[in-house]
Amino acid sequence: MNEIEKRIQSIGVVPVIKLNNPERDAAPLAKALVEGGVPVAEVTFRAAGAEKAIKAMREAYPDMLVGAGTVLTISQVDEAIAAGAQFIVTPGMDPDLVAYCQKKDIAIFPGCTTPTDYHTAYKFGLEVLKFFPAEQSGGLAKIKAMSAPFPMFKVMPTGGISLKNLAEYAKTPIIAACGGSYMVTADLIDNQKWDEITDLCKQSVAIVKEARNA
Ligand code: 3PG
Repeated sequence: MNEIEKRIQSIGVVPVIKLNNPERDAAPLAKALVEGGVPVAEVTFRAAGAEKAIKAMREAYPDMLVGAGTVLTISQVDEAIAAGAQFIVTPGMDPDLVAYCQKKDIAIFPGCTTPTDYHTAYKFGLEVLKFFPAEQSGGLAKIKAMSAPFPMFKVMPTGGISLKNLAEYAKTPIIAACGGSYMVTADLIDNQKWDEITDLCKQSVAIVKEARNA
């Protein structure tokens, strides 16, 4: 695992963020996450201005790990890197994007759920994959089945993770970290409920810690 992957694994959860108002909300959201013990963010290109949010978070909290999510194009990789992103997440396995990220020397977590995806990831020498959409693709049962032929990977499941099933995922050694939007929903962000976000982060970190120690 590279340093970015190790840091993500040690935090244990990755908030998947869509910011409708990046200028207003990026810095206070970063503060809420850091105070909740989750100094990492996957800022998705699902909303315009993702690169502004990445830049604002990096400037406000230089020690925080900020990546770009829902990256679909090479130009978005370039925008994310220019804004200071430290990792790239793609919803699917796009070999061109993986090759480009490796050329640019930035960590890449492609969304993988099938043997074909994993096999492609293997050829690139990747070690940590996003497993998306996790619950809808078969959840933990599928993740475990996939690790039989591909024991070299750890995965970051996202899609359908919540406080309810976080422990079940987190206690499984194949899981590097769990991603999700449940602690950074549109309602929480748009209504600036920073304390609630901090509280959800604290609960998540506690659940992961307990699950890993069980
Ligand atoms: C992602 O892109 O990782 C997912 O949309 C997050 O899924 P969730 O909203 O179900 O947590």
